[in-house]
Amino acid sequence: VEVSVLIPAAGQGERLGLGPKAFLEVGGRTLLEWVLEAFQEAAEVLVALPPGFPPPKGLRATFLPGGATRQESVARLLEAASLPLVLVHDVARPFVSRALVDRVLKAARATGAAVPVLPVPDTLVRPEEGAYGEVVPREALRLVQTPQGFFTALLREAHAYAKKRGLSATDDAQLVRALGYPVALVEGERTAFKITYPEDLPLAEALARTWNA
Ligand code: C5P
Repeated sequence: VEVSVLIPAAGQGERLGLGPKAFLEVGGRTLLEWVLEAFQEAAEVLVALPPGFPPPKGLRATFLPGGATRQESVARLLEAASLPLVLVHDVARPFVSRALVDRVLKAARATGAAVPVLPVPDTLVRPEEGAYGEVVPREALRLVQTPQGFFTALLREAHAYAKKRGLSATDDAQLVRALGYPVALVEGERTAFKITYPEDLPLAEALARTWNA
């Protein structure tokens, strides 16, 4: 299909402390391999790696050096994208089902911008001087995941606008919204969680044993 998959994988994995997550192994494969497998049907896959890391051999993707931030890494990948739709997916989320990809793509095709979200299961609080403060109604909030889908031209415009204005963002949807363009929400998946902390690894190992998306 006419989609460029952009994989920002240039982070150093600092919170995890095990080196770049792209090369972290779960269930006998690197996170990068898991993600490439999930998108194996895509017409084009572009991956941003930490500068100085040689591209792994035998993987079907085009490798580019990433930037100093996630946003810069995505901007570089976007420059190289050649198809009218893009899916941006963090390498730190190895378990992405076909159903999730299809939901995002369908909505992105129809609207120009779509992201998967989840309800917040916990109570949320804004601490006040280290003590329990104001509770933030969780019903009003969602957790934002990837893959995020966009018209390529729209995401390019959003990144250019952000650069000009000096905006920095942790995902791409917020840049599209900053441009004034609406972003559709689709249902996310808990299994598409982001491997962030050491405690996430045994969960990922357990999931890897049965994962068959
Ligand atoms: O740090 P964080 O968890 O938000 O990173 C999200 C994604 O962005 C990861 O897949 C990471 O590899 C990527 N990233 C990047 N370039 C950077 C920093 C992070 O591609 N400079």
